[in-house]
Amino acid sequence: MTPSRATTAGPAATALADLAAAASAFMPSGDVLYLDCAAQSPRLRAAQAAGLAALESGGRPWQAPSESPETQLESLRGAIARLLDGDRDAIAAVPSASYGLATAARNLPLDAGDAVLVLDGQFPSNLLPWQQRCAERNARVVGVRRGAGEDWTNAVLAALESEPSPRIVALPQVRWDDGALLDLDRIASRVHAIGAALVLDLSQSLGALPTDLARWRPDFVVAVGYKWLLGPLGLAWLWAAPRWRERGIAIEQHWSARDAGEGWRFPVDVVRPHRDGARRFDAGGLDDPMRLAMADAGLAQVHAWGVPAIADALGERTRALDAALDAHGLSSWKTPGHAPHITALRPPAERLDAVFAAFGRERIVCTRRYGLLRIAPHLHVRAEDMARVAAIAAAAA
Ligand SMILES: Cc1ncc(COP(=O)(O)O)c(C=O)c1O
Repeated sequence: MTPSRATTAGPAATALADLAAAASAFMPSGDVLYLDCAAQSPRLRAAQAAGLAALESGGRPWQAPSESPETQLESLRGAIARLLDGDRDAIAAVPSASYGLATAARNLPLDAGDAVLVLDGQFPSNLLPWQQRCAERNARVVGVRRGAGEDWTNAVLAALESEPSPRIVALPQVRWDDGALLDLDRIASRVHAIGAALVLDLSQSLGALPTDLARWRPDFVVAVGYKWLLGPLGLAWLWAAPRWRERGIAIEQHWSARDAGEGWRFPVDVVRPHRDGARRFDAGGLDDPMRLAMADAGLAQVHAWGVPAIADALGERTRALDAALDAHGLSSWKTPGHAPHITALRPPAERLDAVFAAFGRERIVCTRRYGLLRIAPHLHVRAEDMARVAAIAAAAA
């Protein structure tokens, strides 16, 4: 248990004062304005302390830990489940989003000629496993493209109508490169109407946006832990629908996913049964007390603030940026339809270098890619900081 666990409260209990004081929950960043939570979250003080304490006690392997990794992992399953459908049996621990998506690709039926729909420019962890699976099955990956002025939701809905045989639809809730939001309510109902399977990569939204699994009815959901879940690298989460918890096949066969019975024996002529639920998909090598303790601290903080409150507060930040861009006459630089927590500036190509260089001089950290400057704040950023970002951008424009 970490100290932050003691302060965990339900979302309804989140006081505005807590959010105002939220910046102090993160490690200080000096004069750096860190706007790259979509790459990796700034570190919570509680996660740093929990990680260091675990590192320290790991130096004495002869002493039993106060809590076994297995117990820690069970409690983490519960904390992740509270962000999804509340069922901890649905959750497996995996090292990366790519690993979870490879598990989905290994299990979902796919026949020759079938199509797997993804977004054009989707993050590679939610593309490469499908490319591989399609190559094995003589199926096709179809990248949804967007027409001028069209949003991604309508582009996906149009592709679902025009594509003759979509069997799997593998999408994010929020685009990783510019924060464009997809309406999963509308998309999911269409996906199910045509009988396709839905796989969601929530790496860029879980912990920052509410979910509605009862409505979306996905087959698999993945999310990395080191972005909006405020945890460490190397620990991600896989949610599996009930039918896959019963008969899904893992991409590796680790002992921790099996019930070894009394005495922990694995006789050659006995195949040990899987542990309950999605635990059959648990990857090996994740019983690392440092990562587990840091993940626990991150999730405790996410629950203490509450996801709806985080989404509101981050929306305030990105709306402040949009308003300041408007005030500087830079409305065309905004990303229409972005999520509350991620957006991107779209300067004219000839100004991109100058704007990015100005950010560098002012110690503003964001990702530059594909002609965009991605802006992804967490609660360490104030709305006033966003006005400064827009002013610096305008001065370099
Ligand atoms: C949408 C999305 N999915 C997944 C990842 C990370 O995937 P993996 O854990 O496979 O490296 C990222 C990282 O930026 C991402 O933006």
